[in-house]
Amino acid sequence: MVKPAKPISNKNIAKETLQQYLHNDPEYWEEPAKFKPERFINEKGEFVPSSYVIPFSVGPCHCLGEQLARMEVFLFLVSMVQKFEFLPDPEAKELPDIDDGVSSTGFIPHSFRLVAKQM
Ligand code: HEM
Repeated sequence: MVKPAKPISNKNIAKETLQQYLHNDPEYWEEPAKFKPERFINEKGEFVPSSYVIPFSVGPCHCLGEQLARMEVFLFLVSMVQKFEFLPDPEAKELPDIDDGVSSTGFIPHSFRLVAKQM
C-alpha cells in the first residue's frame, strides 16, 4: 500500500533538493541515513521497489535517459562484480564513514582508495 506523499511547498524546497528531501524523510524511511538494502527485500528474498525512491526524478523534468541509464548501470556493475572482488586498500588509512559525504542532487561519499582483485 503506497502512502500518499505529503505536499511539498515550492517556496521552501528547490527542485534540485526534491530527491534528497524525499530520500531522507524519516516519515517514509526508518533511519534514512543508514545503508540498509534490506529495506527493499521481502521475506522471500525478492526485490521490492519503492515509489519513494526517485533517482531519476518525477514530473515534466524527469530524466529522459532513465531506461538507457538503468541498462548501463546494470551492465557496468554486474560485469565489475562478476570479475573483481573489491577490497579496502591495505596501504590506505581507514575507510571514510559511509554516512559522511556531500549532499547535492545525490549523496556523494568522500573519496577513498580500494583494490580491485581479479577473480
Ligand atoms: C544514473 C544515471 C542518471 C541519473 C541518476 C539521472 C538523473 C536525472 C535527474 C534527477 C534528472 C532531473 C533533473 C531536474 O529535475 O532538473 C535528469 C534529467 C535529464 N536526464 Fe538524466 N540521469 C541519468 C542518466 C541520463 C542519461 C544516460 C541521459 C541521456 C542519454 C539522460 C538525459 C537526461 C535529460 C535529457 C534530462 C532533462 C529532462 C528535462 O528536463 O526535460 N540522463 N536526469
